[in-house]
Amino acid sequence: MRISFLKNLGFILSIVSICSCSLDQTTKPGITENLKFASKQTSLLLKTAEAAQKIPRTITADGHMHYTRDGFDWTEGFFPGTCWYLFEYSKDEKWKKAASHFQKQFESHRLMPFYHDLGFVFNCSYGNGYRLTGNEQFKQTLIEAGNTLITRFNPNVGCIRSWDVDKGWQSKRGWEFPVIIDNMMNLELLFELSQITEDDKYRKVAIAHANTTLKNHFREDLSSYHVIDYDSITGKVRNRHTAQGYAHESEWARGQAWGVYGYTLCYRYTKDPAYLQQAEKIAEYIINHPDMPSDHIPYWDYDAPKIPYEPRDASAAAITASALIELDTYSDKNYLTEAKFILKNLSSESYLAKEGENHNFILKHSVGSIPHNNEIDVPLNYADYYYIEALMRLKKIEDKAI
Ligand code: GLY
Repeated sequence: MRISFLKNLGFILSIVSICSCSLDQTTKPGITENLKFASKQTSLLLKTAEAAQKIPRTITADGHMHYTRDGFDWTEGFFPGTCWYLFEYSKDEKWKKAASHFQKQFESHRLMPFYHDLGFVFNCSYGNGYRLTGNEQFKQTLIEAGNTLITRFNPNVGCIRSWDVDKGWQSKRGWEFPVIIDNMMNLELLFELSQITEDDKYRKVAIAHANTTLKNHFREDLSSYHVIDYDSITGKVRNRHTAQGYAHESEWARGQAWGVYGYTLCYRYTKDPAYLQQAEKIAEYIINHPDMPSDHIPYWDYDAPKIPYEPRDASAAAITASALIELDTYSDKNYLTEAKFILKNLSSESYLAKEGENHNFILKHSVGSIPHNNEIDVPLNYADYYYIEALMRLKKIEDKAI
């Protein structure tokens, strides 16, 4: 199953084109030019979304637009979030209208206690909306989403449960209380809520989760396990597994990106040096990995068996670039050069779509989950979201420097 993509000639051609891109360490990523392009391309995507009245997620293996699921979809917040960033960039009311409209589609999900992804979903959409408009209804939605999210916290474990195990593929793995490294990203909503409401309960959950994850999720070399399964009574680790990586003991690239982003945001809210140190060590792991390709857009798993003939994951690169820009502002080490290098390469023709192509998504060549044979070498709405976020972060830094 894992190597079925090799049969796809289009994919092989894309590998060749990625490997042959010429790289230099100094060129700027072209912030304004790329944000302008992102606005144009997403305007086209918005037309598709408006016609379908659905939130775009990716492209299917047979080349059709794939929208987020109606019931709940962990990626549903990213398209409205992208619209909020483009509103922030352009001040064009059309983006505010689009973001508000599409996030409304999943507003009721704030009360669904079955998903840890509430943080991702609501912070990227309503969170950005509240930050930019101060809308009181958005704030209320965020509080209710956070209240639902913390019901998944188990004090015996010291973590928010990621997946329920009573149904779906997760029920077939023998897990009791699975926590995935991605869950670090949900903490941003909780830290924000403690600031907004001045109620410490959200922050306490976030800190406990970050500390437990720091203790159990990382190997000595600072690579991370994707899934840690806990005993919900004793809090002991039952299993160290993967779900989206190549193997239990391999390093799934996006997991490492979530890790560096997650500990950077924990430091933002706590100023705890342990989180800064963790983020720095994860960053070093990523930057210095011997199997990192020369353009620093990682293979989907650092230990994937057919490197260099493995798909890249542009989403992992975009998340990492965004995290490193923030980390650079806290650290005495330089992460900005690396972030700019990644962004410059994501903005090259190897990864950046041409206007009107790629079903109007911005970035090409991401991976959802190879073990699930799902979303292989495709655009993903979260790759675009973090790419734009990274450009916006860089723009703010450069605007200040002028
Ligand atoms: N949180 C799911 C993923 O990163 O694919």
